[in-house]
Amino acid sequence: MSYENILVTTENLPEGIALITINRPDKLNALNKQTIQELHDAFRNAEQNPSLKAILLTGSGEKAFVAGADISEFASFSIEEGAQLAAHGQEILFDFVENLRTPVIAAVNGFALGGGLELAMACHFRIASDNAKMGLPEVSLGVIPGYGGTQRLPQLIGKGKAMEMIMTAGMINADEAKSCGLVNYVVPQAELISFTTGIAQKILRNSPMAIGQAIKAVNASYKEGMDGFKTEIKAFGKCFGTEDFKEGTTAFLEKRKADFTGK
Ligand code: COA
Repeated sequence: MSYENILVTTENLPEGIALITINRPDKLNALNKQTIQELHDAFRNAEQNPSLKAILLTGSGEKAFVAGADISEFASFSIEEGAQLAAHGQEILFDFVENLRTPVIAAVNGFALGGGLELAMACHFRIASDNAKMGLPEVSLGVIPGYGGTQRLPQLIGKGKAMEMIMTAGMINADEAKSCGLVNYVVPQAELISFTTGIAQKILRNSPMAIGQAIKAVNASYKEGMDGFKTEIKAFGKCFGTEDFKEGTTAFLEKRKADFTGK
């Protein structure tokens, strides 16, 4: 499938890994409507592809991961259109990514602002290049984060620090982001994709089925009306009926490496 605003490739990557690149460098990869739809389609296709076991997400160029939602698209929106923008985006991209069974790692290669930081936060975890800058500048535009930022930022870094970032609309650098748990590693920009690929390869050794169930159980604790512990028990039980469980435990007992199948 070909896209206008994103690139999807498995070339020059270990088998099982796909790289999605948001490709509007002239606009610092700002998320317009079409880009959001294309990302949805690409993530859905990757999820449905049994041979893809991990997805890396990054931005094109050396300056930005994503500098936010495309301000030019929503500047004249009404109350209803604003609410619809947030609801639709959350549904087809931000919640969608968070709930994928396939692990998604954000390789934050520069500015991740507003919707860009929200997209990175919807990924399962984040790795930043040393030039990355992150923030939620929405209140400086007279609006609030609408793609999950008011929820995921406090979940990741704690309420007080999140309140400060949201209220000041300020940016933090990569080292600050690491020290508050927003990103897991900071690496030189030239090494960002290879380092992130290395982390993805560690994931690839494990059962895709079990990883999918683990994502579901971890996410359950952040969902209203869901009991994370109960979700874990159910997901744990489900694993016992699978080929991956049979293979993983048998391989351990036979002192060999497990060879997991699909996802
Ligand atoms: N929406 C639409 N266009 C954006 C954008 C966004 N969120 N962020 C950057 N762009 C565009 C700029 O308008 C500019 O386009 P132009 O060349 O056609 O004028 C281009 O990307 C380059 O950005 P520019 O501002 O010239 O780069 P800079 O290096 O001077 O500043 C930033 C970089 C990230 C500080 C600045 O672009 C910025 O503040 N962006 C908006 C961030 C934001 O508020 N995001 C939250 C949106 S809800």
